[in-house]
Amino acid sequence: GMKQRLLVVANRLPVSANRRGEDQWSLEISAGGLVSALLGVKDVDAKWIGWAGVNVPDEVGQRALTKALAEKRCIPVFLDEEIVHQYYNGYCNNILWPLFHYLGLPQEDRLATTRNFESQFDAYKRANQMFADVVYQHYQEGDVIWCHDYHLMFLPKCLKDHDINMKVGWFLHTPFPSSEIYRTLPSRLELLRSVLCADLVGFHTYDYARHFVSACTRILGLEGTPEGVEDQGRLTRVAAFPIGIDSDRFKRALELSAVKRHINELTHRFAGRKVMLGVDRLDMIKGIPQKILAFEKFLEENPDWNDKVVLLQIAVPTRTDVPECKSILFVLRLLCTYLIRISKAYKPNVALVTSLRDGMNLVSYEYVACQGSKKGVLILSEFAGAAQSLGAGAILVNPWNITEVAESIRHALEMNSDEREKDTGITMLIELNDTVAEAQMRTRQVPPSLPSQTAIQQ
Ligand code: G6P
Repeated sequence: GMKQRLLVVANRLPVSANRRGEDQWSLEISAGGLVSALLGVKDVDAKWIGWAGVNVPDEVGQRALTKALAEKRCIPVFLDEEIVHQYYNGYCNNILWPLFHYLGLPQEDRLATTRNFESQFDAYKRANQMFADVVYQHYQEGDVIWCHDYHLMFLPKCLKDHDINMKVGWFLHTPFPSSEIYRTLPSRLELLRSVLCADLVGFHTYDYARHFVSACTRILGLEGTPEGVEDQGRLTRVAAFPIGIDSDRFKRALELSAVKRHINELTHRFAGRKVMLGVDRLDMIKGIPQKILAFEKFLEENPDWNDKVVLLQIAVPTRTDVPECKSILFVLRLLCTYLIRISKAYKPNVALVTSLRDGMNLVSYEYVACQGSKKGVLILSEFAGAAQSLGAGAILVNPWNITEVAESIRHALEMNSDEREKDTGITMLIELNDTVAEAQMRTRQVPPSLPSQTAIQQ
């Protein structure tokens, strides 16, 4: 039959643009979990709407970029510098992001944030309206519109105000915090009401869905039902959809000759030593400083491991204009003299994910997907959403307790192959194409009743 037409709307497109001339653009794949997850969506006729990550003030440039992106089935939303500053750096990444990850801001930043709140929230709503305008231009009757993440919480309302018959889903890629935290947000009412305009609201884990429903009952006084949230007879479905990756993409990458060459080089370079790997965006939620402290403690307490083990940390810079992202870089420079960059596809012995909070953390899935017969061990923060699905196959740690992490490092490095076999999470890997029922069997906590994944099409 006909494929379902889908408009994916996310702040960032899966490709980011770099200008090479007046009408010349080069495109490269964007970093982050949202993109990894959605590259695995198959069997739908999908187009992406989003920001290409650059300011394009001139019409020649805009026209050329629109054309280059069309080949990738992408449609750009052009945001000028001022709006990027207020909406993206400000409201999204300096207000919502730390709040949703239970992170406090330094006192001086907190006061500045309080003062700027109103103008940043206005910019957020204006930006969401700009995304909505592009959706209207490309919408055809019957399309499903799938809005993503904390950048676009105001979008479901814009869309439904325009056309009540649009089928709208909204999925959050971060944690949704406890209602006790969420209710400190000055714009708490408006954002919840807007999200509830969607037909289906999805989260990575059942806990996040539960927090969202509590926020609606406690802050808006609405009724929570097993299916979702009800407002005057109208139901918004709320459910957990533990998202996955396209694991074949990673297995195929391992067969590429460039990757094989790279693995060879690394094998020589680190011959005789065990390699532990971290791959994270350079973000305060990832707990990279805590990871380095734990590694230091491990080396102090296990001097016989000195020179026999290496910690490789890949840290991909994003959001470089957000103050917290600048300071994390500074802290890391103090903690280590150098960071080594290597390919993701290398097969290290142990992977170390120490996020302080993390919506899902698809890097841990990517690591598992690349193991094959090697059976490396995954040490995973209990505060990553992935701990609820990969948990049984990984060593779970509290990243704030560096003694515990140091112990787990030793345990992982000294595991024999039988133990490793048990602990690599391979059988627990949830593919994006799984039905919800299968995913349900494999996750520990599930809501009492899960609507089918196709509910949004009804
Ligand atoms: C997280 C967010 C995504 C975001 C990604 C990269 O995974 O959930 O929405 O795209 O980080 O961050 P950036 O700000 O560079 O888009």
